[in-house]
Amino acid sequence: MTSLRGRPGARSTIPRTHVVIIGAGLMGAAVGRELKRRRPDLAVTLLERAIPGAEASAAAAGILGAQAEPEGPGPLLDLALASRSRWSAFARALLQETGVDVGYRACGVLEVAFTDDAVQRLATRAHWMRLAGLAHHTLDRQEARQRQADVAAMVRGALWLPDDGAVDPRVLVPTVVAAARAAGVAVRSGCIVAGLEVGEGRVRAVQLDGPDGSCECVQADHVVVAAGAWTDLVPGLPACRTPVTPVRGQLARLRPPRPVTDCVLKAGAHYLVPRADGTLIVGATTEHVGWQRGVTDAGLAHLLAGACSLVPALADATVLEHWSGLRPHAGDGLPLLGPHAGIAGLHLASGLYRNGILLAPIAAEIVAAGVLGTAPPLADPAWLPGPASGLVQRRKTA
Ligand code: GLY
Repeated sequence: MTSLRGRPGARSTIPRTHVVIIGAGLMGAAVGRELKRRRPDLAVTLLERAIPGAEASAAAAGILGAQAEPEGPGPLLDLALASRSRWSAFARALLQETGVDVGYRACGVLEVAFTDDAVQRLATRAHWMRLAGLAHHTLDRQEARQRQADVAAMVRGALWLPDDGAVDPRVLVPTVVAAARAAGVAVRSGCIVAGLEVGEGRVRAVQLDGPDGSCECVQADHVVVAAGAWTDLVPGLPACRTPVTPVRGQLARLRPPRPVTDCVLKAGAHYLVPRADGTLIVGATTEHVGWQRGVTDAGLAHLLAGACSLVPALADATVLEHWSGLRPHAGDGLPLLGPHAGIAGLHLASGLYRNGILLAPIAAEIVAAGVLGTAPPLADPAWLPGPASGLVQRRKTA
């Protein structure tokens, strides 16, 4: 048996098949819940460094942009559409399991263009949506303002995507963690992962560093790495198809002087997402600043300028909050989902970048199927974590 850290530790023995999930954010909790729904006899443990559900997913705006986010046909669109089609049932199931309404709404996304180039980009997008048979409506200036009267008068055209929607991640993420717990998933906080233990080509255990310098070895038949932007910092994780790096997104919450939109509004990188309480989420920056969370004045200025150019009435809005999250960006733009080719029992649920909320239902099903050895609902080698065989460590420590 090879210990990637080579450290002995007290071994806890768990008789049932034990699945250990590293990361108790939305993705980890969704995979844990899905596993227990399918196989209540499994032992499933979620390990979290800090507070379950406190990381990127809870910081997100919550756009379910299956058509608004992908650039065109391909594996990301396939995943996005499959996941969007599950959202209504996912939200209903969470309500049944926890009593909490996560605020899912198929409110639509209005993509707005203010320049000739942007109009042309929307026409290209409308073209592939037409070929793919997806609901969409190309609107001229007048029709765009009929749909949302507060959109800036200089709008040149728009694309209306009626089947996209939104959800409130601040409600969603703790609810999925609660649903996982209710299904029987054990959730442990304050867990510092020190390494993966591998023997004869398969994962055997997760090593944890204790606060007092002790080391605990948690036996595992399967390990699912769902550590978001911190995936590549999991000690002992072998090389995957592509690195996962953090990309900071700053967002703000405004109280508008009056309701200005009942759908998601989007213009390039700027978007506005209405919440049920009348506030508006404004997003987002895209910053390659490593693992620095935090917010900047420049970030807020960028968000407010974008918001006001979309809806001028927001010049009179009050800024209620300003925060950031780290999106897990996979180098080739596709998530890493399913079994790792190099180590039996090791699985990835990471790299969901801008679409972690949207993709949670389908990603959880795909990863759970990989753990259980059943057919996934959707298969494409493009999102498998492979390819590396052997233990190639990119980084050893956080
Ligand atoms: N899903 C939008 C963003 O990541 O900013």
